[in-house]
Amino acid sequence: MKAKILKALKDAGEEYVSGAVLCEKFGVSRQAIWKNIVALKETGYRIESVSNRGYRLVSSPDVLYGPEIESRLSENNICRKVLYFEEVDSTNIKLKQLAEAGEEEGLLVIADQQTSGKGRRGRHWNSEKGEGIYMSLLLRPRISPFHASVLVFITALVAVETIENIFGISAGIKWPNDVVINGKKICGILTEMSAEEGSIHYVVAGIGINANMEEFPEELKIKATSLFLETKKKTDRVEFTAEFLNVFDKFYKKFLEAGSLHPFLGKYNAALVNRGKEVKIYYGMVENAKPEEIETGIANGIAEDGALLVTVDGKEKRIVSGEVSVRGIMDYV
Ligand code: BTN
Repeated sequence: MKAKILKALKDAGEEYVSGAVLCEKFGVSRQAIWKNIVALKETGYRIESVSNRGYRLVSSPDVLYGPEIESRLSENNICRKVLYFEEVDSTNIKLKQLAEAGEEEGLLVIADQQTSGKGRRGRHWNSEKGEGIYMSLLLRPRISPFHASVLVFITALVAVETIENIFGISAGIKWPNDVVINGKKICGILTEMSAEEGSIHYVVAGIGINANMEEFPEELKIKATSLFLETKKKTDRVEFTAEFLNVFDKFYKKFLEAGSLHPFLGKYNAALVNRGKEVKIYYGMVENAKPEEIETGIANGIAEDGALLVTVDGKEKRIVSGEVSVRGIMDYV
């Protein structure tokens, strides 16, 4: 209800919206409208109320408030509810608990800070308070678990498109799903799935965006960057999140309709920073890799199942996500 009221007030701009109109529009009592307006004011919204005219939104607070994000989503968006936490261990962990408890598809958990942010391959994800966007979306696609692995590629493309839409700059993708700008990572994606006997219980798509960090710890500096460091502009995290979810909705539905990655191959390969470049394939952990665990080749693009096609000694090999890490010859990309 709060999201609906906010949307109605925003749509009205400088105009007042009468309580009666809101009651009729949402089929609730005047008292219910009033209670929600009071709650919005307590969250930091400045809402003017004038008798005989109604309500007018004067200003919105700069917080990752669930109803604020919901009020900016496209109609019938796959994301139907946004749950905000000031602090969680990990939005993926939190959402998995909610999924196990039976929560329906389309819940987004978003946090201002994570105390145990999870990265891929058991790594830690830097999740400083107030600086990044840490969110996880619950999906329950009726597709085979085998197919669901390509969701990471779509999610990476969503991040690229969102950055383009908001900042007008082109980010790239380091296979399989690191989103990079100028050779450094700006966004990480960790999808986790629960499935059995060929059917999916749920997929948790976790997304971490380095938004407003002004600097990174020494050990991350060479491979991480933020939207702020690249654009010199602060990201409005609510705007970014809503745009991300609106793009995600479009891409996800297109993916389900096509039943494959096919409609996205061109876009993905165009964004792939490894394409046409020499890459090292690590069969094991990148750190302390033995020479026999590394192979060198030229990356050609991805196949429809997401495998990276790499020419090694004149032969094209399929590199499957999860088995290897791909690094550039000289540095991170
Ligand atoms: C990577 O290693 O590149 C993946 C990083 C994924 C980080 C995000 S932040 C939101 C969500 N919650 C987590 O604990 N991890 C993901």
